[in-house]
Amino acid sequence: MQQLILEGGVALRGRVAVSGAKNAALPLMMATLLAEGDHQLDNVPDLADVSTSARLLESLGAAVQYRRGRLEVSTHGLCRCEAPYDLVRTMRASVLCLGPLVGRFGLARVALPGGCAIGARPIDQHLKGLERMGARVELRHGYVEASARQLRGAEIDFDVVTVTGTENLIMAAVLARGTTVLRRAAREPEVVQLAEVLNASGARIEGAGGEEIRVEGVAGLAPLRCRVIPDRIEAGTLLLAAAITRGEVIVEGLVPGHLVAVLDKLREAGVSLEPVEGGMRVRGPERPRAVDLETQPHPGFPTDMQAQFMALLCLADGTSSLCEHIFENRYMHALELERLGARIRIEGSRAIVSGVPRLSGAPVMATDLRASASLVLAGLAAEGCTAVQRIYHLDRGYQGLDQKLRGLGACIRRASPACDDQRTVRAA
Ligand code: EPU
Repeated sequence: MQQLILEGGVALRGRVAVSGAKNAALPLMMATLLAEGDHQLDNVPDLADVSTSARLLESLGAAVQYRRGRLEVSTHGLCRCEAPYDLVRTMRASVLCLGPLVGRFGLARVALPGGCAIGARPIDQHLKGLERMGARVELRHGYVEASARQLRGAEIDFDVVTVTGTENLIMAAVLARGTTVLRRAAREPEVVQLAEVLNASGARIEGAGGEEIRVEGVAGLAPLRCRVIPDRIEAGTLLLAAAITRGEVIVEGLVPGHLVAVLDKLREAGVSLEPVEGGMRVRGPERPRAVDLETQPHPGFPTDMQAQFMALLCLADGTSSLCEHIFENRYMHALELERLGARIRIEGSRAIVSGVPRLSGAPVMATDLRASASLVLAGLAAEGCTAVQRIYHLDRGYQGLDQKLRGLGACIRRASPACDDQRTVRAA
């Protein structure tokens, strides 16, 4: 199992480009199940979760090719309707095949994902929506089995705002008979892109980006063509990497409109941000100011940036209060940050971070994707050596983060804990 070894204290400098968004690419990959033909997705990031989704599509009978950001999916040979446990347990987003499979073929068997490191994460809202659209949903032998001769349009009020739930039901509704209305829908840019790409292939979806989405069912779709939007969470992580090291970096390709809440909080913390041609120039302050923040569904502050922002606030002048409203167990990084000298108190969904002037390197353990990124950021700023273990989490969602940081001057390399041969290994 590989680890990342960082020598902290280098101010990052230079330019770095943002990759395509994981959480936009995954639903788009599953959306290819909705139409027979040859689909082409560009700017797809090279990530473990993308490979897992490709394996899932292949297990359903699709042919998938990936080369330098271009993913080609041929769905002529689809022949199965099952997402097996082995794939779903490594990547919860596999559940996104449920909507397209029931919508197009009237049948899906998808392993129930179960809990994960950041919370219980049920899929009851996905299932409730499918039932409202006329599907029969049963749980058997650990699998959700959903079937319907043809889904029909329905009015669906979500009880909680759910990103993949909204995406799943949009995909279920595009081929349904009649009109589906989704209320309290997720408004994330990834939901908007999914709707836009499906519309370009013949779907009739209105209102994506707002709280109410209307989907008029159509008889069929043409194959998908698209360029995946830049990853706003990777962009935010890179901005924070520059800020936490007091560096000066241009982050290329980010869409400021996707990151408004994060940019606002960075400015509040004293980070200088200046839009430049094709990107954003970021300059870290001598010491960040303390900031209070609460995670919320988009356009609020994203839960996927909470851990990374906490790393910055560990070094702030003053006490910050963070409140996590989306996932009940998303503070696993706090204990690890404390190993680096941070002072954090967790009180239920709130984390009180008392800023310290410096962190000191130590071995730490990554517990999930964004927690890993937070530990890498803290390691970049800490004095001495930090070893981040279990970085397979990081490779699920960041394309070559260590290479990108190295390109900005960071002292970071991969090593295997058992036989640390000092090699720098290419990012997965
Ligand atoms: N929820 C339910 N029932 C449901 C669905 C969700 O109670 O049927 C609850 C969840 O337990 C959670 C809240 O609703 O408390 C929001 O969960 P959501 O369904 O929005 O999360 P998700 O769709 O499973 C996506 C991202 C996550 C991101 C969340 C929140 C993808 C593939 N994943 O997950 O990304 O944290 O939205 O923004 O889009 C990551 O990239 O690291 C990551 C975890």
